[in-house]
Amino acid sequence: MSNNLTAVKHGLSAQDRQAHYGHGGAVLWMTGLSASGKSSLAMALEQALTTRGYSCYVLDGDNLRRGLNANLGFSPEDRSENIRRVGEVAALFADAGLLCISAFISPYREDRARARQACRQAFHEIHIAADLQACEARDPKGLYRKARAGELQEFTGISAPYEAPLAPELTLETARESLETSLEKLVAYTVANIPLSRNHL
Ligand code: ADX
Repeated sequence: MSNNLTAVKHGLSAQDRQAHYGHGGAVLWMTGLSASGKSSLAMALEQALTTRGYSCYVLDGDNLRRGLNANLGFSPEDRSENIRRVGEVAALFADAGLLCISAFISPYREDRARARQACRQAFHEIHIAADLQACEARDPKGLYRKARAGELQEFTGISAPYEAPLAPELTLETARESLETSLEKLVAYTVANIPLSRNHL
């Protein structure tokens, strides 16, 4: 980082933004195996919360790896850099006053801890806890099959690690309950923890 930098102060405070949106900025950080349901839940949550008056945006692994993170692969170093960048972007969205929902495998505890530290607003870690057996049985993109066949290297759960959260704010058992049930829990959690001021309802 260059030394010749001076932070520039915004004219709007976090309170000004809260008054504008009707809620504080926050990050809802989903973590879990590929095919655990992160993206489906994130997109459904974005819609459900927007309908209720929240201002949200989803950052998704498969999407960001086409643009901002197009130069990154799946080595441990590249995954760390992927999550470092996403953590910083999510923090900016939260600073802007939005509810940022992120959906990345984010397999390393240390990287998730760093994303939490980068966030200056509320950070909620949500474990999308479908086990490997369930994710592999779903295999919507055929990636587990390729990984088992040795056609795809360093695949999370097969040939690369996944470190489950030790103390997530919320855990959703997406292998045992329907998407609708998980979504209801997520909406209830958000409404309880990131309240919307009445005049925005
Ligand atoms: S992370 O590990 O760096 O957090 P990220 O969430 O961005 O991963 O991307 C995961 C997506 O990339 C998966 O849903 C899958 O579609 C795709 N993918 C391709 N190769 C791999 C791999 N080796 N391991 C895991 N996911 C992979």
